[in-house]
Amino acid sequence: MRKRTWKLVCMECRAEYSGTSPRYRCECGGMLDVIHDIHAHRGHLDVKKWNDRRYSHNETDRSGVWRFREIVLPVHYEMVVTRCEGNTNLYGSPRIARFTGMDNILLKHEGENPTGSFKDRGMSAGLTAAKMLGMTQVACASTGNSAAAMASYAATAGMQAIVFVPEGTVAMGKLHQSLAYGARTIQIPCDFDRLLRLVEDACLAGGVYLLNSMNPFRFEGEKTIGYELLQDLGWQVPDWVVVPGGNLGHSAALAKGFRELYDLRLIGRMPRIAVIQAAGANPFYTAFRSRNPVAPLAKVSTFAAAIAVGNPYSWKKSLRGLKDTDGLVEEVSDREILDAKLAVDAAGIGAESASCATVAGIRKLVDSGTIKKGELVCGILTGHLLKDLDTVINYHQGRLGELSAGHVNPLLRAAADTDSILEIIRNVD
Ligand code: F0G
Repeated sequence: MRKRTWKLVCMECRAEYSGTSPRYRCECGGMLDVIHDIHAHRGHLDVKKWNDRRYSHNETDRSGVWRFREIVLPVHYEMVVTRCEGNTNLYGSPRIARFTGMDNILLKHEGENPTGSFKDRGMSAGLTAAKMLGMTQVACASTGNSAAAMASYAATAGMQAIVFVPEGTVAMGKLHQSLAYGARTIQIPCDFDRLLRLVEDACLAGGVYLLNSMNPFRFEGEKTIGYELLQDLGWQVPDWVVVPGGNLGHSAALAKGFRELYDLRLIGRMPRIAVIQAAGANPFYTAFRSRNPVAPLAKVSTFAAAIAVGNPYSWKKSLRGLKDTDGLVEEVSDREILDAKLAVDAAGIGAESASCATVAGIRKLVDSGTIKKGELVCGILTGHLLKDLDTVINYHQGRLGELSAGHVNPLLRAAADTDSILEIIRNVD
């Protein structure tokens, strides 16, 4: 049998666990990391193997998660639950360069994953872990995207999915996905922060496998965004990688992944990570600036509902990652997020509102001189434009209140005759 090259380690007290039975936390309460035996891999892993897999006929090889499987979760290939996630595009756009004031900006569009968000990578790893552990039921609390991803990957694995969402704030498109993929979908009348803690308690008591941020395997999938990004760049390390921050798993995962590549000597330096929060849901920004622990917010307010999180679960892991990468946290207003969204959409790329906090943040950090114009910046767009239909329609119909001021592209109507259509064509500006 092959030697096992990973274990679970507590980020607080360094206690170790084999990971062969379901476990989300250490006995001391600390969060767990999947720690790979870098020494066992050093010298045996090379980027050529990972590059070659990209062009394989085998779906698992081609997956943007499993092509890096040696340092994701080395399991028998029959255990892998994949929809060939990843393989997302990296866009350069003169329009976005102008908008942000940068020479070199690239946007990796994780909304191009199978269910339309970066969550597919983490859920591919999470469902694989569930299968490895012999689980049959999985659950998560979600602002919508994790739920859609979990529902799809559970269906792929033949497992039952139970999804919990805060009532009334989840975009209809995301709810549709959970229902369509066959998940039991339950709305609870409270905000996401309370929901997450309630679901954790209930699932632990009920023996359902939890796939929220307390699950260490999800980070292993999400970190591959960074691996694939480097691969897209021919293993050139960008100066900055910029991501939106909600529950803060994504930023933590990216930093962990870069650290591993650095320790494997596959990259010679680490990119700096910038986490961008909505100003109305900014506990991590406040904590980072004041060098204090996160103080949960009782109320959050942002139209970017995917990142409306007041008590981020993974802030300690994210902070560790920022320290390790000389990173930082910035906040942006809803107006700034919306302006960035209009620019990303009008560039022909399009993305979910929360994703566009990335671009708004880059613009702000360039303005303040933190990011230098000539540096290479990669922003992660986390969700697809179609996740957020109401925002787009309401904005362009002038129904977003103060936020609708500015350029709108209203839906037009003409009578069903040639003259009316010609009239419209002549007046298009
Ligand atoms: N962008 C999108 C589109 C998201 O859906 C999320 C999180 C984030 C950014 C923030 O990522 O939480 O790792 O900092 N959505 C979660 C969900 C909360 O349930 O789908 P994070």
